[in-house]
Amino acid sequence: MAKQLTGKVAIVTGAGRGIGRAISIALAREAATVILAARSIDQLQQTARQVKEAGGKEFIAVTELTEEESIRNLVKVTGEKLGRLDILVNNAGVTHSAKLEDTKTEDWQRCMWVNARAPFILCREALPLLRESEAGYIVNIASVVGVKGYPLQSAYTSSKHALRGMTISLAEELRGSNIRVHLLCPGGVDTEMVQNVRPDIDKADLIGPNEIAELVLYLVTHKGNAVMDELHIRRASSTPWFGG
Ligand SMILES: NC(=O)c1ccc[n+]([C@@H]2O[C@H](COP(=O)([O-])OP(=O)(O)OC[C@H]3O[C@@H](n4cnc5c(N)ncnc54)[C@H](OP(=O)(O)O)[C@@H]3O)[C@@H](O)[C@H]2O)c1
Repeated sequence: MAKQLTGKVAIVTGAGRGIGRAISIALAREAATVILAARSIDQLQQTARQVKEAGGKEFIAVTELTEEESIRNLVKVTGEKLGRLDILVNNAGVTHSAKLEDTKTEDWQRCMWVNARAPFILCREALPLLRESEAGYIVNIASVVGVKGYPLQSAYTSSKHALRGMTISLAEELRGSNIRVHLLCPGGVDTEMVQNVRPDIDKADLIGPNEIAELVLYLVTHKGNAVMDELHIRRASSTPWFGG
């Protein structure tokens, strides 16, 4: 049977490790070509090997998401090398753990720029290519703190609320078009990020990066009329989460 993403091109930011690596590999299993974006070349090369092993093609684009020129270049290179774009996954993120009164303006700005400003610029720059796809997808990876707020995370929480707000507006703007826009709001996932910020959570309780990747794969291969705008994903041991 033909793979579901044969001939499709995806950009995944933060593809060097963690959730971004898992998403890249999941897309590759369905034969996508994945543009792997992050700063650390060594980590991107490791992901590239795994993408190839999974049956996909890959292209490494070393990208600094705090620099607008670098973000524009990511889209430009995609257009020049592959001539199309079908899936944009805004996954890269940074966090900062401190009381608000101890959070420097630069820490707040770094969270805002990587987590909210970069996806905004990438969506804007990628839209012309996505519009040419038969079926385009934008998947933004927010967080539980895109809808809630936890102590010691004011900078991170601000940025994820901003990302969610932008995603809602964009989904409205693209309603009825060929492009579907999704937001994922996960709780603790077993990656380097959570090990640094929430070492108190038992590793065995964390969500696997592959579990997030499976959901992304589902969203970008789903062909029916049903749309799942926003997915809230929590650890099985945590409090059930029905909004409010
Ligand atoms: N882990 C969790 O519990 C959790 C829960 C909810 C939501 N999330 C969200 O899920 C996403 C992925 O998180 P993760 O846990 O996989 O994090 P991670 O393991 O720390 O990976 C983050 C990725 O983003 C890239 N990145 C960071 N700053 C960048 C920059 N300035 N320019 C380009 N790339 C940059 C990193 O690569 P370089 O450093 O090499 O650039 C890395 O590939 C993030 O948006 C995070 O907020 C995570």
